[in-house]
Amino acid sequence: MGIPAHGEYLQAMGIQQWVSRDRPPADAFEVQATEEGGATDGAAVLQPTAIDVSMLDWAALEARVSACERCALHATRQRTVFGSGDRSADWLIIGEAPGADEDLQGEPFVGRAGMLLTAMLQAVGYRRDQVYITNILKCRPPRNRDPLADEVSCCRAYLERQIELVNPRLILAVGRIAAHNLLGTETAIGKLRGTVHHYGKDRIPLVVVYHPAYLLRSPLEKRKAWEDLKLARQAAAGG
Ligand code: URA
Repeated sequence: MGIPAHGEYLQAMGIQQWVSRDRPPADAFEVQATEEGGATDGAAVLQPTAIDVSMLDWAALEARVSACERCALHATRQRTVFGSGDRSADWLIIGEAPGADEDLQGEPFVGRAGMLLTAMLQAVGYRRDQVYITNILKCRPPRNRDPLADEVSCCRAYLERQIELVNPRLILAVGRIAAHNLLGTETAIGKLRGTVHHYGKDRIPLVVVYHPAYLLRSPLEKRKAWEDLKLARQAAAGG
């Protein structure tokens, strides 16, 4: 028996395949290009770090992460999840933290939510291997609880260096935790989405999208995610 086509796999997973369209679905929500809710622009920078990995190349950085014991998560992880994809990609996708599947496989977004993320990227014309995907945390929090502030700050330098090395045209912040930590705000994700923010001194365009795990639970929100992906495509193209 051959390997199932990607579409068949998604169908088998109960995930509707995303198809790129030039026009939004008739009942799509409008994107509000708004500053409402204190959306940050230009001010978003991760905090300074206690370790200096700013000179490390990819190989050295990955080795540092895989040996990392800076926070308690190292004791419960199976594997670190550094990141995957094209290290010179235009799009840098940043999620929250590895889940059970990622912890076992050592790759980000490989579980059910990852399948949906892959389909979302395909809808805007990208294969997984054409973007770079990583997370705020490189180790799985037990029972998939939210990352703690000290865990995020221990991992921050690694992410900052990854952002520098990829030097993307666009950052897609996937979910509330990624959005809050990258933008340095606690504004509700519903107010952060739909707007192009900017990250760091290079003002890299940053778009917030709902987490695919949330979209699996709330499929009606996929229309908003579709709008955000189109906004991201436009921002990456410089528009
Ligand atoms: N959720 C995330 O935010 N990241 C992963 O890698 C997997 C699930």
